[in-house]
Amino acid sequence: MKPIESISRRSFIKTTGAAVGGSMVAASPILSFAARRQGNEKMRIGLVGTGVRGVAMFGRDLLREYGEYVDLVGICDQNPGRLQVAHDYIEPDGPAFTDLDEMLTETRPEWLIVTSWDWEHHNNIITGLEHGCHIICEKPLTIDEEKAEMILEAEKKYNRQIIVTFNYRWVPHRSKLKELLMEETIGDITAVEFHWHITHDHLKRYMQRWHGERNRGGTLWVHKATHHFDLMNWWLDSDPVEVYAHADLERFGPKGPYRGVNCRNCAYTDQCPYYWDITQNDHLRRLYTDNEHYDGYIRDNCVFRKQIDIYDKHSAVIKYANNVYVNYSLTGDSNYEGFWIAFNGTKGRIEGKEGGWHGDGSGQEWRMQLIGQEPETIFVPRAEGGHWGGDPLMMDKLFKDQDQPDPLQLSAGTRDGVMSIMVGIAARKSAESGQPIRIADLTSVKPQAKRPRG
Ligand SMILES: NC(=O)c1ccc[n+]([C@@H]2O[C@H](COP(=O)([O-])OP(=O)(O)OC[C@H]3O[C@@H](n4cnc5c(N)ncnc54)[C@H](O)[C@@H]3O)[C@@H](O)[C@H]2O)c1
Repeated sequence: MKPIESISRRSFIKTTGAAVGGSMVAASPILSFAARRQGNEKMRIGLVGTGVRGVAMFGRDLLREYGEYVDLVGICDQNPGRLQVAHDYIEPDGPAFTDLDEMLTETRPEWLIVTSWDWEHHNNIITGLEHGCHIICEKPLTIDEEKAEMILEAEKKYNRQIIVTFNYRWVPHRSKLKELLMEETIGDITAVEFHWHITHDHLKRYMQRWHGERNRGGTLWVHKATHHFDLMNWWLDSDPVEVYAHADLERFGPKGPYRGVNCRNCAYTDQCPYYWDITQNDHLRRLYTDNEHYDGYIRDNCVFRKQIDIYDKHSAVIKYANNVYVNYSLTGDSNYEGFWIAFNGTKGRIEGKEGGWHGDGSGQEWRMQLIGQEPETIFVPRAEGGHWGGDPLMMDKLFKDQDQPDPLQLSAGTRDGVMSIMVGIAARKSAESGQPIRIADLTSVKPQAKRPRG
């Protein structure tokens, strides 16, 4: 294990991006992966945000699976305790920093991976761009329309690439649906029913953390449903134009029957259905509870704390620029984890679901019925790897060979990142105002009947 060469012990520095001023590195073209291999060069990568996501998928797993293609030249987290644990866990090729600006200046990565808090993504992206980095950003791109505009402006100004890691697209069952729709198998799509469910346990994890506060995660309309709206924009190959929605918080936050400070010291552990002892999980204890004193970040907050101001049930009607109507719901406190979806087209219908339904677990199906014909089943074998087999495929493309052909348009950029959160932001505003919200009133990206790639 390498020692931490340069953990900055400065007090936490707000990375506003604007404070840095000016491009640090002259723009250079992205090196093709063929050229990179010829020159035997690895991708130089920096990582900001060493929570569970950063240390695993884009930290230790990245180096284990793609170590021959990448060097992790620096890692950054504003919590020095978590950073130390992350450095021990990941064993990166370079040092650790509590200040992003300092990391980028000293280690000069070509790519910056952003796995920090949702409401900090825009700051980290802009700082990375200012230093001449290309960006790989976790979803959601950001949480509101003002921050989205800041990212779009910076992307134009610094002319670098921003990739949003919509790993949900890469799941083989879902990319098979994309293929069927691209082939116009059911003709022109007219209407879609799309219903997503999160189990009690899954929702609890959101309510216990920063995700429960709208100014941090943008509500589940953005934090979670960005995945769903991205899938829908991609499947339909069109942009959303208007959203009308309802949402409510019925069981959590101020609606709860009792409350404590957090699970560990709560007087209601015997009766609370959401009780969870984080200290039983060594990895989480070392990363989070042992380092709370640095920044007050609590992972097992009370799910009934009064600050919770997101929703636990959501329903929206989305109109697309190609005149498709989508009926969407996100039921956040359910016994079921997964989704059910149906596309209705001029030549027939495709429907399917994901969740604990697929019998022996060997794969998943789509059921298609063309008008006047017998129904048929399209079986997609189960794929290995995280997020239903999608993660390894996306990681191969990102880190092994970005020049891989992409006929199903699986890669996503800023435009896709923006358009997916815009549906959620519009839904949030609609649910709160009682009015339908037009996407064109929220973003400089113009909705188009056939959406351009990116
Ligand atoms: N694609 C997926 O399916 C998926 C799954 C899980 C998480 N995510 C995303 O990954 C991101 C991280 O999630 P997580 O669960 O690890 O969160 P987390 O809260 O556990 O960790 C985030 C880390 O970022 C650090 N941080 C925040 N802002 C920072 C800044 N400005 N500078 C330096 N460090 C900063 C925090 O100290 C913390 O250690 C989130 O955006 C989340 O939405 C995506």
